[in-house]
Amino acid sequence: MIEIRGLIKRFDGKAVTRNAVDNIDLTVPEGQLVTLLGPSGCGKTTTLRLIAGLERPDAGEIRIGGKVVYSSDDNVYVGVHQRPIGVVFQSYAVWPHMTAIQNVMFPLRSGQKKLPVPEARAKAMEALDLVGLADLADRPAPALSGGQQQRISLARALTREPEVLLLDEPLSNLDKGLRDRVRDEIRAVQQRLGITTVFVTHDQDEALAVSDEVILMEYGQIVERGPAQQIYARPRSEFTARFMGISNSMPGTVTACSDDLVDITLPHGTLRCVAAGDLVEGHQVNVFIRPESLSLSRKDTTGLGWKGTVEFSIYHGDCWDYHVRVGDTLLRSRIYKEKVGLSHGDPVFVSPDQETAIAIPVGTPAANAGTPPLAGTATAG
Ligand SMILES: Nc1ncnc2c1ncn2[C@@H]1O[C@H](COP(=O)(O)OP(=O)(O)OP(=O)(O)O)[C@@H](O)[C@H]1O
Ligand SMILES: [Mg+2]
Repeated sequence: MIEIRGLIKRFDGKAVTRNAVDNIDLTVPEGQLVTLLGPSGCGKTTTLRLIAGLERPDAGEIRIGGKVVYSSDDNVYVGVHQRPIGVVFQSYAVWPHMTAIQNVMFPLRSGQKKLPVPEARAKAMEALDLVGLADLADRPAPALSGGQQQRISLARALTREPEVLLLDEPLSNLDKGLRDRVRDEIRAVQQRLGITTVFVTHDQDEALAVSDEVILMEYGQIVERGPAQQIYARPRSEFTARFMGISNSMPGTVTACSDDLVDITLPHGTLRCVAAGDLVEGHQVNVFIRPESLSLSRKDTTGLGWKGTVEFSIYHGDCWDYHVRVGDTLLRSRIYKEKVGLSHGDPVFVSPDQETAIAIPVGTPAANAGTPPLAGTATAG
């Protein structure tokens, strides 16, 4: 288990206007995998490095397995080598002059708790076996593929049997097919060992695929957190909705409410939506609609379609994205059909699915709204 309270990190410098990590509270339950997800520069790597002890916080507290490894109040700082962690970085740092097994054995043969060679070798073989590379143990590292090298890094991080595994964009140097395979491997090993893991990524699909919980970050703060399905299907903030790829949005007004469904008047008609948050009649909202929730037809059979014109289309192999202008709004509709046969300038009717769009109250705060830059910074002793 990892417990983080009030964590703050600021990098000094002329152009620095915000804390890189700005008052984060986070608990990663025992045996779970939590992803830190967010755009470039939002503080994911810094958070991970603070947990690892590779960076010293300015304030807050970090506990790993119940033990305080950093506390600004009590002036505790446990160094990286004393923390029960394994780390894997984006650039798979394998040593080219060593074989696969020598790479994995290295941490066991260095430092104060140096193991004898036969013992270290046995442990390294176990770790290689876990990541499916036992057969390649004696292969020189440069003769391994990118994905194999990344799995070597993972095996090396696991050899010391850490309580906590920290992964910083471990897949980003791999091509698409390999990325999926190594991702699945990481999740399988993590679940098999029941190892508490923090996984950093800026890729929402990757986060959804591997996580027990997804933490959305922006400007060093946590914007939203929840199980992957909830973050995908029921985002509660505009930032999350956009980041999770819900590209269509339009302003509307609540006209009726029942439980978590609301009727919304939009510029082109009305729509029953899922409410994100407490809404009452008259509330102003932004409605977020997934491209796959908008269907297109040449005739308006229901009388409820929104009249528009096709601007352009993009082919993705398994689907088409049609960009359709409806009034002032450009909407994206994703169609999973072999042949739709619409082209630039064609008139169409756009029909949104009922009860799938999400109505988010206007002005849902972004992470840092209202907080002055560098608020709450304290210095650790
Ligand atoms: N050593 C450093 N010195 C000064 N500023 C830093 C340093 N490391 C990070 N920062 C700044 O802190 C902020 C958070 O950086 P961080 O590397 O944690 O972002 P990230 O979310 O990992 O981004 P990415 O997805 O690009 O890896 C950024 O504004 C970055 O420029
Ligand atoms: Mg990073």
